[in-house]
Amino acid sequence: MKPRDRLRIAMQKSGRLTEPALDLLNRCGLTFRQSRDKLFCFGEGEPVDLLLVRDDDIPGLIAQGVCDLGIVGRNVLSEFKGVTGDGAAALAEWRPLGFGRCRLSIAVPQDMEYHTPQDLAGLRIATSYPGLLNQWLREKAVNASVVTLAGSVEIAPKLGTADLICDLVQSGGTLVANQLREADVLLQSEAVLAGPDALPTDERGDMIDLLLKRLDGVIQVRE
Ligand code: PRP
Ligand code: ZN
Ligand code: MG
Repeated sequence: MKPRDRLRIAMQKSGRLTEPALDLLNRCGLTFRQSRDKLFCFGEGEPVDLLLVRDDDIPGLIAQGVCDLGIVGRNVLSEFKGVTGDGAAALAEWRPLGFGRCRLSIAVPQDMEYHTPQDLAGLRIATSYPGLLNQWLREKAVNASVVTLAGSVEIAPKLGTADLICDLVQSGGTLVANQLREADVLLQSEAVLAGPDALPTDERGDMIDLLLKRLDGVIQVRE
């Protein structure tokens, strides 16, 4: 990979994390010029550019060295670290950012009983987080089958393609709308700053250092 002299931060192109992430970077003194394709935003003052992508792609982009940092949900980062091998282990959660709080939960049809994870034995669970779900099932020694879906997971029980789901819950509105109820929590999530395990040794390392200092100041003021 060509060495870069500008820092590159990946964040969600459109979604719940987009506005608060941009707002946080602005308060760290970073402003960006929106490009025409809107996928790459050039940093105006500092040598820091933005890449606007699907949130699920962010850990991979950092692992490949295409981006230096990412603002992404802990759920997405943990799924990546759990599922993929060697390179993924070198990714770290550097700072919790205090927005985008949600949980990765088991949700069951309103009329289904749930007392312990063992109640899930033999059932089919739809999720976009097969790595985290399989890990949890292993820990609980539950033998259930995992049905992986990219989205609209909440509809699966109604369609009959799964008995229950494991998905993100924020307000709970989506569950209610689909006659599901939250039954267990696998992971408490929020937006985090993700990066490689070790700082780059070139000037990007210094830039990251500076950015972290500003970030800590901004987070402290907000608390
Ligand atoms: C997330 C998640 C749930 C919903 C939960 O999806 O997958 O479907 O939000 O939020 P609620 O509890 O406030 O209803 P999102 O709308 O972000 O889209 P995605 O699933 O396509 O990523
Ligand atoms: Zn997503
Ligand atoms: Mg969803």
